[in-house]
Amino acid sequence: MELSRKIFVAGHGGLVGSALVRQLKAQGYTNIVTRGRAELDLMCPHAVRTFFETQRPEYVFLSAGRTGGVYANDTYRADFLYENLILQSNVIHQAFLSETRKLIFFGCSCMYPKLCAQPMREDALLSGPLEPTNEPFAIAKLAGMKMCESYYRQYGCDFITIIPTNLYGLQQDYTPLNCLIIPALIARFHEAKAAHAPKVSVWGSGRPSRDFLFADDLADAAIFLMKNYSSAEPINVGSGADMTVREVAETIREVVGYQGDLEFDASKPDGVLMKLQDISKISGMGWKPRTDFRKGIALAYEDYLRAPQQWA
Ligand SMILES: NC(=O)c1ccc[n+]([C@@H]2O[C@H](COP(=O)([O-])OP(=O)(O)OC[C@H]3O[C@@H](n4cnc5c(N)ncnc54)[C@H](OP(=O)(O)O)[C@@H]3O)[C@@H](O)[C@H]2O)c1
Repeated sequence: MELSRKIFVAGHGGLVGSALVRQLKAQGYTNIVTRGRAELDLMCPHAVRTFFETQRPEYVFLSAGRTGGVYANDTYRADFLYENLILQSNVIHQAFLSETRKLIFFGCSCMYPKLCAQPMREDALLSGPLEPTNEPFAIAKLAGMKMCESYYRQYGCDFITIIPTNLYGLQQDYTPLNCLIIPALIARFHEAKAAHAPKVSVWGSGRPSRDFLFADDLADAAIFLMKNYSSAEPINVGSGADMTVREVAETIREVVGYQGDLEFDASKPDGVLMKLQDISKISGMGWKPRTDFRKGIALAYEDYLRAPQQWA
């Protein structure tokens, strides 16, 4: 991917898309095309077709989509399924028609079966039932993966799927009831510090472990894979190591500077005890993440502090 190639980052305002634009610019790419939702609604097939016919991007990062945490996934099941299916189908099909050289579709670790052997290898996809709370979203993501695979096999399109682990970083969503664990904890410790609250209570025992990756590291991996990976098979991108919810909460408390107590409410459900993606495929190609967790959290908190009231 030469530095002057025309690259479309779909969803450039989001956590992943904004990191992609930052990383592409930092690496010297000069022809990056972006469109906000008001200019180009990716749900509209006609608008997507016109965009691809007139702009003819050579490389596409498909990082737009309907996203959210457990509550949002479970509550807006129809919207998560419908919006992701339509949006991704519009973009993938128009990329095919306009002969885009290469496209990356972003999957999600929820595509793996609920009781998947750990660490989760790419060949475990579609080997068992999904977690019920986010099944519609996971089905849409699996359909996107199958669409890339099918266009790859039938038409020879270089469309690949990468499966990121849990991400955090700059420009993440802090909307209450929609956000994920890291933004939720950053906001809660920040608010507790401001209010001099004596304690913060976190759901569950604190023992479950998850794998977290700084979004700019994911963006770096996606650019690396755009240059070096062509296959009908998806590929995981993660940190390679898991952390307990307790370790996550303690690190965030320390970075935010909250002095009160941290309490775990073991009466609330823990969910699956461990979730970790196997990254031997991408590691074997020579890629590894750069940002350690504490540094990533410090950067995310710095970003949050630019406008904490926006999320209140
Ligand atoms: N965050 C994670 O932990 C994580 C982990 C694994 C995989 N992923 C995947 O990575 C991708 C990006 O995630 P993210 O966290 O960056 O999501 P995000 O922060 O919610 O960003 C999504 C972007 O998509 C745009 N978008 C949504 N619907 C659109 C439409 N109809 N037309 C145009 N733009 C539209 C949004 O625009 P608006 O700003 O206008 O809403 C936003 O810019 C998703 O496919 C997600 O499933 C994320």
